[in-house]
Formats: sequence, structure tokens, C-alpha cells
Amino acid sequence: MRSKLVAGNWKMNKTSAEGEALVEQFLDAMNDHVPIDVIVIPPYLSIPRIAEICRRAPVKLGAQDVFWMDEGAFTSRVSAKQLHEFCADYCLVGHSETRGKFGQLEVPETTVGYFAETDETINLKIKKLMFYGIKPILCVGETLAEREAGKTDEVIASQIRGALDGLEAAELYELIVAYEPVWAIGTGVTCDTPEAQRVCSQVRLVLAEVADADVASNARILYGGSVKPGNALELFSQPDIDGGLVGGASLDPKGFADIVRSAIQAGG
Ligand code: 13P
Repeated sequence: MRSKLVAGNWKMNKTSAEGEALVEQFLDAMNDHVPIDVIVIPPYLSIPRIAEICRRAPVKLGAQDVFWMDEGAFTSRVSAKQLHEFCADYCLVGHSETRGKFGQLEVPETTVGYFAETDETINLKIKKLMFYGIKPILCVGETLAEREAGKTDEVIASQIRGALDGLEAAELYELIVAYEPVWAIGTGVTCDTPEAQRVCSQVRLVLAEVADADVASNARILYGGSVKPGNALELFSQPDIDGGLVGGASLDPKGFADIVRSAIQAGG
């Protein structure tokens, strides 16, 4: 039986002092009782301070991205070895904002290359994170243009296959995949619940093909894209949605606590 999981991706928000206050207020709102996996994903600079809190509180620490080399002349990058030093438990990989689109369908040519991930770089990152015992949260999702062209399932399948290329089923038992339709991120538009459930069940089918049936039934599949207190319970009650990857709404401690309570109510 899969347990629910809620992750709050703060993106480029909060100083470390503000982040600390956010986690403390969240814990207060939960009366320090957090019976499911809750992950906070602060910006890199806040990681040392938030890692301190995570050592003594029932929340886990995630990072927003990683580079796949251990060290070297890679200005501005952060390695899995460095995240490991701060006991990061999880790390996002392949978020649409690092796949080069920043959630937009059109971006100036000059900005695309800065963040543009490929399936190959995502695959290298996953392998390196696993080497250091950090659990990857693989983000997949289609753009509006891809959805309108009827390519959602094809895009998702190809992103998963590319990301997991060369990995054995035995390495994928604790896999977490977040389905985040790009058009629903930060827009206030949520994918309607039956469709979110349908795509998450597709993700599970692809995992069964890429790995095996056990990996598919064990994997936790999250929905992300304008999750809020008002829609979380319905989304998390779906059979193939095991929780959420929350952006904007994770910046409000009370709202985030409400979302976590919805996950507990939906089946812990
Ligand atoms: P929003 O919840 O702000 O739409 O962001 C979702 C997301 O990108 C989480 O990684």
C-alpha cells in the first residue's frame, strides 16, 4: 500500500530566515504531527538552515535540481555530493522550469539554452542522485501545444523512457514521478481531476513496461500544477494520485498544512 506524499517546491522564493519561519509555522499548524511524508524544497542557499530543522522535525529536505558531475569547472552548478553533505533526502529532476520553458510556451531564443535539459541530462542526474542515496522526483508533463495536438500520453511516455534509460527495475522501487502539465503550473488552472487521474494511471502503465509490475504499483505518482487547499482532497483521493508537488500554495504555511491534511484524509 502506497502512502501519500506532499512536496512543497518553493522555487526562487524565501530567504533562509523566511524559509525557517515558514517551516516552523507549518509545523505549528500541524501541531508537530505529520504522519505522512512531507518534503520541503527550498532554494539551494536555504538548504543548510532548513536542513537543521529537518534533522529535528517530521519534514524531509529536497533540492530543486542537481548537476551530474561530482566536482570540477562547472561554475554555478551544485553536485549530488554537495547535497549529500546536507542530508538532502530528495531532489527534483526534469522540472519543466529547468527543461528550458519556464512554464511558458514561447521564450526568447536567448534564454532557452540556459536551463534546457534533455532526457540524457535528466538520466545522468537520476543515476548520480541514486549513487548518493538521494531519491529523485522525476517531473514530467506536456505543454498546452502538445496537449492540443493530442500528444500528451506520447510525450509523457517518452520523457519517462528517456529519464530511466539503463536503470534496472531493482533501482526503481522507491521511484517518485510528478505529473505536472506545463499549462497548469502557476496559472491557477488545474488539470481536471479525471484527466489528472487518467494521465497518472498512464504513468503507471509506462513504468510497468519500462521496469516491472512491482515498480509500477510501488511508485508514488504525484500531481502538480495549481494544487491548492480547495482542490487537493479531490485530486489526492484518486487511485493513482499519491499526493502533490505544490508550488505557490506551499509558500503559505496554513494553506500548505491544509493540503497536507487533505493528503492524510485521502488515505495517508
Ligand atoms: P504551482 O503549484 O504554483 O502551479 O507550481 C507547481 C510546480 O511547478 C511545482 O513544482
